[in-house]
Amino acid sequence: MLPRPKNNFWWTVAYVAGLMLVLSELFTVELARAEYADVVLNRLSEANGMRPVIYPHWFHRIRFRCKVCHSELGFQMRAGSNDINMMKLMDGKYCGMCHNNEIAWGLDNCHRCHSGRKGMQTGIRGGHKAGGPGFW
Ligand code: HEC
Ligand code: HEC
Ligand code: HEC
Repeated sequence: MLPRPKNNFWWTVAYVAGLMLVLSELFTVELARAEYADVVLNRLSEANGMRPVIYPHWFHRIRFRCKVCHSELGFQMRAGSNDINMMKLMDGKYCGMCHNNEIAWGLDNCHRCHSGRKGMQTGIRGGHKAGGPGFW
């Protein structure tokens, strides 16, 4: 029979290896998902033969002040609560306010917005629910 201390040692090694496996698994899974706090918009897209829209909120938030979108452009601060459609974008409203080939690339880049997987539901990914200081 092996002496006890050695036994404990191997248990520790096995435990640490197991823990690392679990951690690496978590990170791999995380990378495959929509990014933290992305908003999926799929009220109309899939029903009309397009992939759901993935709106990268963080990407925009680091470039513009909240009030640009949530007061001046009229986006309600609740995922899925805005009545957005392509006609409105072409009229220069909502995303179309900037995605017009002037401030940002234009509406002809369908796949850059309609980039979600089929079956994704309207709503925010992770985001506010995860909370934590300084996230908003
Ligand atoms: C470039 C435009 C833009 C900017 C800048 C922006 N947002 Fe948003 N925000 C959006 C859009 C679009 C949505 C999703 C609306 C929808 O789903 O109908 C949204 C959704 C939200 C939501 C709702 C999320 C939920 O859980 O339902 C909150 C809260 C929010 N924004 C807060 C902020 C804050 C705080 C800032 C500034 C730090 C900010 N936003 C900056 C466009 C913007
Ligand atoms: C206030 C201006 C503004 C509004 C409103 C806005 N965008 Fe953008 N968006 C930008 C700018 C600027 C970029 C960066 C363009 C570039 O890289 O050339 C961008 C980039 C993007 C990207 C690419 C992100 C990446 O990783 O490269 C996506 C996708 C996108 N916007 C989707 C949307 C959608 C969907 C909406 C509406 C719900 C929206 N945007 C509303 C300004 C805006
Ligand atoms: C700047 C982002 C953006 C671009 C680029 C874009 N769309 Fe959209 N589109 C949206 C958003 C946001 C909605 C509403 C999403 C929802 O709730 O399903 C939408 C909705 C739609 C719908 C649903 C029906 C309707 O009338 O709104 C269709 C179809 C559509 N888009 C087709 C296209 C096609 C085709 C292109 C390229 C020529 C395109 N979109 C480019 C953001 C975009």
